[in-house]
Amino acid sequence: MQGAHRIDIGRPRRLALHHRALLPFGAALALLLFVVSGCQPGATEAGPASSAAGTTASAFVEAGGAFPQQWPFAAEDLPVRATEGMVATTDEYASRVGVEILAAGGNAVDAAVATGLALAVVNPEAGNLGGGGFMMIRLADGTVFAQDHREKAPLAATRDMYLDADGNVTDRSVRGHLAAGVPGTVSGLWEAHQRFGTLAWTEVVQPAIDLANGFEVTTRLVSTLDAAQEGIRAFPQGARIFLPGDAVPGIGDAFAQPELAAVLARLRDQGPDDFYRGETAALIAAEMERGGGIITLEDLDGYESVWREPVAFDYRGYTVHSMPPPSSGGLTMAAIANIVERWDLGAMGWNSPETIHLMAESFRRAYADRNEYLADPDFVELPADEFLSEAYADSRAATISPERATPSAEVRPGIDAFVDESHTTHYAVVDGQGNAVAVTTSINSWYGGKVVVEGTGFFLNNTMDDFAAKPGTPNQFGLVQGERNAIGPGKRMLSAMSPTIVEDPAGDLFLVTGTPGGATIITTVLQSIFNVVDHGMNVVQAVHAPRVHHQHLPDLVFFEHGGLRAATASALETLGHTVRERDPGPPDAYFTGGMSGDLQLIMAMPDGSWAGWSDPRRGGRTLGR
Ligand code: DON
Repeated sequence: MQGAHRIDIGRPRRLALHHRALLPFGAALALLLFVVSGCQPGATEAGPASSAAGTTASAFVEAGGAFPQQWPFAAEDLPVRATEGMVATTDEYASRVGVEILAAGGNAVDAAVATGLALAVVNPEAGNLGGGGFMMIRLADGTVFAQDHREKAPLAATRDMYLDADGNVTDRSVRGHLAAGVPGTVSGLWEAHQRFGTLAWTEVVQPAIDLANGFEVTTRLVSTLDAAQEGIRAFPQGARIFLPGDAVPGIGDAFAQPELAAVLARLRDQGPDDFYRGETAALIAAEMERGGGIITLEDLDGYESVWREPVAFDYRGYTVHSMPPPSSGGLTMAAIANIVERWDLGAMGWNSPETIHLMAESFRRAYADRNEYLADPDFVELPADEFLSEAYADSRAATISPERATPSAEVRPGIDAFVDESHTTHYAVVDGQGNAVAVTTSINSWYGGKVVVEGTGFFLNNTMDDFAAKPGTPNQFGLVQGERNAIGPGKRMLSAMSPTIVEDPAGDLFLVTGTPGGATIITTVLQSIFNVVDHGMNVVQAVHAPRVHHQHLPDLVFFEHGGLRAATASALETLGHTVRERDPGPPDAYFTGGMSGDLQLIMAMPDGSWAGWSDPRRGGRTLGR
């Protein structure tokens, strides 16, 4: 069937002006789908919309928009509103800490640091001291900063350290001591506070200590412990704390972490010196020796977080600021957005076959280049300018057909001009002055490599798996990455984490967005932006809306359980896509019951107030003041 009905759509053109739709692509594809599959052309679940709104009466709803019938989240819920500041996280305790710091006179950076440390206590599956992350900061005066506190490979790491004698990848990059990179979170939070914080360090650390002295176990903690208990049980020092009496604690049980409280008290009193050079460093090094890991005192002492130049790109007149490498987020989002911008997503309709086809084709191409070219910029030369260029988007867009999905096998890394010379939880804070912070932080899998450092109460990451343990073979997220992201001593592994801040066409703060979700982070964050900018959704709808994902390999369009009408799925199959519904079974490393992501989204409203929403997929909570 594919290609049987050729329609001349011409070539995609550059959208010189930021208005909708100069191209007949959507209409041509709708007609094609009608002809080949019997689908009603333009049978979309939401009509085009013209403006974003934070309240219920969004253009999405006014245009008759609705989520698929079986979808569990409503389009009509009211967002959280506030005037003085807002904190959106996956956990109510952590959001409360952030809001209380704002109420005490702290700015968004103070609140973000306190919130991050609180998450390290109440959200031990992802919030962390033993991992790393990225922080985007936009000050009220419009200046934007990117803080990289990604883990680094230990100095003793080698390219083939996870291969067995036959050259096959083992599970040692995912489980146990060897999976851990040198943690960066403590350094990053300290640096951000040193540079922009206004409250005393002791004041922003104290709430986490209080929580470590005891809080009531939440539903989310129980469900993630349930999912990860087998792995945790393999290492008794963590099982003793997190599976007391060899069982997952009950919802509402009092849960105290005295060893973690002691680590945090040393952090409060000694700053990062204790973690990188003091008692905590010694405990980490001892744990490594005991368990056959390779992080040394020298690695810890040598760790430094880095301020980097943020990635900025234009999307239909909005300016998107996100993380540069070693996160792939900013550049990959730029590449996708520049391709997608050549068509009118709004007119094609939200969740329509036309829109999903175009997104999937753009995702596929940009991920092919992400997986091949991006890595730690301190080690590898990167074609960063190509990802941002109109020429790149032109050449990639020109190969997208409305008639058929391009098999990923035919989509090779496509930056010809580049000469290679050698070589998770997310939270968002805004304050009353208009400063904004977005942070994504991770120990990679839930509870990382499942190893707690004896005497500290925190889990170590398994982020070494974000390297290409064997270039060309998939990691735990199915990402097939290249030689540039091979393991090297002292090198940072490529990330998808994409904390992102968007300005409106007037240059004012508009959205603060981000999510966990491994390889799906980039497409989830982008869809939160498309939902608002192209489909006119309000902040709740932009979070609730079901999402799709494609990452080049495997060659599949993923959709969330219940997130696509059967007719839409079959229209996509007709075009040659293989469509895969997420398994609603028990959660794994990054999917929760057939869902993907955990967006935390804050939107600046025209009247100067905030509207915000936390993803119900993992039960988060936005609080305002
Ligand atoms: O940096 C990355 O891309 C991954 N380590 C992120 C892992 C993640 O999001 C897990 N999420 N739930």
